[in-house]
Amino acid sequence: MLDNPDLIAHVWPNPKFDCLSNDYGVFASRLRAVCDARGFESTVLGVTAGQPICLLTRMASRPSASRLLIASGFHGEEPAGPWGLLQALETLNDGILGDIQLSILPLVNITGFSRGTRLNHRNENPNRGYLAIDDSTRASEEGTFLLEHEARLVSLGRDGVLSCHEDQALAHAYVYANERAESPGDLAIALRECNAGHFPLHPDGFVDGCPIKDGIVFNQLDSSFESWLLKRGAARTYCTETPGQFGFEQRVSANADMITTFMEFFR
Ligand code: NI
Repeated sequence: MLDNPDLIAHVWPNPKFDCLSNDYGVFASRLRAVCDARGFESTVLGVTAGQPICLLTRMASRPSASRLLIASGFHGEEPAGPWGLLQALETLNDGILGDIQLSILPLVNITGFSRGTRLNHRNENPNRGYLAIDDSTRASEEGTFLLEHEARLVSLGRDGVLSCHEDQALAHAYVYANERAESPGDLAIALRECNAGHFPLHPDGFVDGCPIKDGIVFNQLDSSFESWLLKRGAARTYCTETPGQFGFEQRVSANADMITTFMEFFR
């Protein structure tokens, strides 16, 4: 088991938050503080290793506001997603939040995050098993909780879903875009451009077995969270990938910027 790369711990200094990248205590307390201050309501979707997997929603003032869902922390060795989400929430101006209905799944794989490992404490992959279309992988403990709340998650992400990942092995950035269209639309391109403002883009060819062009993997559905929500009715879903071979603070800032770009698109 020790030679399984998915069980190797990846931990970085996290100076902006004065802790390490796997410090769940600091992450949870700062997240709670900013979500309370900004008026989010919390629902516990399930409990893993004694910790709650939370869904937070902030209702819009306008009923016609776009409904957006942002998720992060599916893989524990990709911590710039959750910290980037926290940074975005702490620095956003209130105007954005008034114009959209935002829901967040800030940290899905809590045990992987704490250990710094890709997989959870049961050695399951929390971003597989949502659809039976690419392999026989069963849903993880966390995935089972999310699947139990399918109708709610689809409704909350009706107009757009963003999932923040990293690719530990790479020195290039890219974006998975799933849209009901023949070619990448304006939001896919905006997310790619934002990522490209921080890192070199992945060259054309293949990444993780998927064809990639101009930094975008387009409509390659698998059994992931983002493929699942598209299949079940979300208008468009995205998965951003920052490169693990770059510095941690740079990756956190890139995630915060892409999260803000995503929200701004719907104002
Ligand atoms: Ni990932």
